[in-house]
Amino acid sequence: MKIYSNGVVANEDVSLDLKKGEIHALLGENGAGKSTLMKVLFGIESPDQGKILLKGQETAIKSPQDAIAKGIGMVHQHFMLVPSLSVAENIILGVAPVKGIFIDKKRAVQEARDIAEKYNFHIDVTARVEEIPVGVKQKVEILKALYRGAEILILDEPTAVLTPQETGELFVQLKKLKENGHTVIFISHKLDEIKEICDRATIMRNGRSMGTYQVAGMSTDEMSRLMVGREVVLKFEKKPAERRQTLMQVRDLTVHNSQGVLKVDHLSFDVKGGEILGIAGVEGNGQSELVEVMTGLNQNYQGTVRVANTDIRKKSIKEIRNRSLAHIPEDRMKSGCAGTLNILENLFSNQYERKEFSGRMFLKSREMQKKAKEWIAQYRVKCSSYKQKVGMLSGGNIQKVIVAREFSTNPSIIIANQPTRGIDVGASELIRRRLLEFRDAGCAVILISADLNEVLSLSDRLAVMYKGQFAGIFTDAEQVAEDLLGQYMLGIKKDEKLEGAIYESCETL
Ligand SMILES: Nc1ncnc2c1ncn2[C@@H]1O[C@H](COP(=O)(O)OP(=O)(O)OP(=O)(O)O)[C@@H](O)[C@H]1O
Ligand SMILES: [Mg+2]
Repeated sequence: MKIYSNGVVANEDVSLDLKKGEIHALLGENGAGKSTLMKVLFGIESPDQGKILLKGQETAIKSPQDAIAKGIGMVHQHFMLVPSLSVAENIILGVAPVKGIFIDKKRAVQEARDIAEKYNFHIDVTARVEEIPVGVKQKVEILKALYRGAEILILDEPTAVLTPQETGELFVQLKKLKENGHTVIFISHKLDEIKEICDRATIMRNGRSMGTYQVAGMSTDEMSRLMVGREVVLKFEKKPAERRQTLMQVRDLTVHNSQGVLKVDHLSFDVKGGEILGIAGVEGNGQSELVEVMTGLNQNYQGTVRVANTDIRKKSIKEIRNRSLAHIPEDRMKSGCAGTLNILENLFSNQYERKEFSGRMFLKSREMQKKAKEWIAQYRVKCSSYKQKVGMLSGGNIQKVIVAREFSTNPSIIIANQPTRGIDVGASELIRRRLLEFRDAGCAVILISADLNEVLSLSDRLAVMYKGQFAGIFTDAEQVAEDLLGQYMLGIKKDEKLEGAIYESCETL
């Protein structure tokens, strides 16, 4: 049992048993208490009741150091790396080979390389963490735990930030770890992954455990029913798109990152009202840089970007937002919200100037409270009230607050970067439906997602981004086979003369 100081009962009478050499899934909706249970096992939170037995012995896990000493490693839902340090330094941090009082950098690099090689992770250990994409950060976190000799490895949504290829690589590694007698606790909202890799699954609902099941004997439908307590529709019908006027126009866009590396390479495309343009691709192929320009976060680019007929060069983020552009950012902890502010403040952080909410002298707080309550209910944000600090919500619920805020601004253009990352099956369904509703109402939607099922089922046109260009564009996304898409994503296939196709494909449809 775990009750947080604000009275939230996050774990109630939970039982979980792990066998040596198994991959054990922990399943449950956002806020069900999965991360809390793992924090108890890793010594971050202390339980209010109950006991932990390790190899048959009752034990108390007093701190993360204590957990590590007992052979438990944890990769958290949100990154815990030091951005200004190198990959190697992060991996060995705390257990570093020292030379006098300094970290022995040369040996650190060598040891980090050795461990990366041993587990077959292809990463540059000399790169600084702040400069690497999220997918690589995740790998660094896993290596860090392995370096500390973890026998039991807790992975809290490790694949949420990985591409299908990276997930595949990770699974090969996890299977090897399992064969070597390691035990893995695997948290994920992607039920297919659980089917693929896990032996048993424990399901949590509202802080309680709903039982442990053999994964082999269970369908994904059954899993979601046990988690949510009702039937979840995992497939939905969609009408053909009705394209309207161009709302987003990108011409000859070229972007270099801060190290001068070319990230977006003479890219041109249009997005019309009433359509969803999906962008698939392996992380790091320019998607983030493209979004940064379209949303005004980066002013340093060549080419032109027009949002609702206005050239956005030298326009501030606020001015662009005022052109009815909504943005669900990729990294919700960094740029999505303010953890120390409460839910209501976060919900309105970008709309204090809207007429409905600002009175002559002060904000109409009644109106705002009413709306906040409505949105919390609509997006099923699990919280005690709108006064709760966002930093104390579960990972998926933080994302829901951001989505609620962005969707409530009455947008005509939505840039959704990994909108359902870390979101449970029920709420993902809701968000996808909303994206389609916005499309049907004439909104231009740009959907960037590492979830291939998501881009394939939602996109009216689907572009695959590779090395800063579109390698392929599909106008019949639902018909595209995943492995064909994979070939474009990895640069094995590339269509020539796409420049024309990306305009024409929307003109002729
Ligand atoms: N530090 C905290 N203080 C107070 N309440 C908290 C804290 N951390 C989590 N909670 C609450 O405990 C409950 C369980 O949260 P937890 O993070 O364990 O959920 P989860 O199952 O991991 O969800 P998700 O899938 O969204 O990651 C939630 O209602 C959350 O708001
Ligand atoms: Mg969690």
